[in-house]
Amino acid sequence: MEGKVTVPEIVRMKERREKITSLTAYDYTFARILDEAGVDILLVGDSLGLVIQGQENTLPVTLEEMIYHTRAVVRGCRRALVVADMPFLSFQVSVQEAKRNAGRLLKESGAEAVKLEGGRNISQTIEAVVQSGIPVMGHVGLTPQSVHRFGGYRVQGKDQIQREAILQDALAVEIAGAFSVVLEGIPESLAREITESLSIPTIGIGAGVHCDGQILVVHDMLGMFDRFTPKFVKRYSDVKGVMTGAVKKFIAEVRGKKFPDRKHSFH
Ligand code: KIV
Repeated sequence: MEGKVTVPEIVRMKERREKITSLTAYDYTFARILDEAGVDILLVGDSLGLVIQGQENTLPVTLEEMIYHTRAVVRGCRRALVVADMPFLSFQVSVQEAKRNAGRLLKESGAEAVKLEGGRNISQTIEAVVQSGIPVMGHVGLTPQSVHRFGGYRVQGKDQIQREAILQDALAVEIAGAFSVVLEGIPESLAREITESLSIPTIGIGAGVHCDGQILVVHDMLGMFDRFTPKFVKRYSDVKGVMTGAVKKFIAEVRGKKFPDRKHSFH
């Protein structure tokens, strides 16, 4: 697809059966690289709590931090759609607060849409945010802000009752007006059923090949974050190895008085 990616364009991609590509981004330099490479959606995920801040989970991330990182991503992005995560406690307390905070994310960072975790429990909130003119991406299945309720990052939807609940959540998100929905950590067969039941695109992470698009945390797929690696992460590169090699070379050259050489000095 040529030109700026917009919310309606993402929906049309499903109609045209074109796969949607998405990666997380948290700063200007990464955003530029991913955008220039042609990714359709840059998600400023609250996963920044883990890969940028070194937190145990996403719960401590604040709205102010999301605004800060999203601003930087927006500055580095020309073509991709920029979606910002609504962090824990920014939308759960009341519909009013959710509308204000979603509005702040768009107004103060330049994001073009927000993402909210949850299904039927937040369908009224999604509806109200969409009604105020803010595009919403849903997120069902393994929703990391509920990690303590799940007792860890476990695959969801393994039995029939859970499958039905996740399907109903995804349908509720669509009915509430979301333009797309992330399906995280669910069996491939359930993701297929949801994808075939919805008219909005599904973006999968640990949800198999049948989703309309795929998303990964960029630090995972580049091989930069190795504190833990979920089964669904494919490492497309070993950037940690490349960085380590370059830094070791720098240390050796400085210690050996080989850097800076004539070429990198003023005369
Ligand atoms: O926070 C995040 O990065 C996400 C994606 C992994 C979907 O929610």
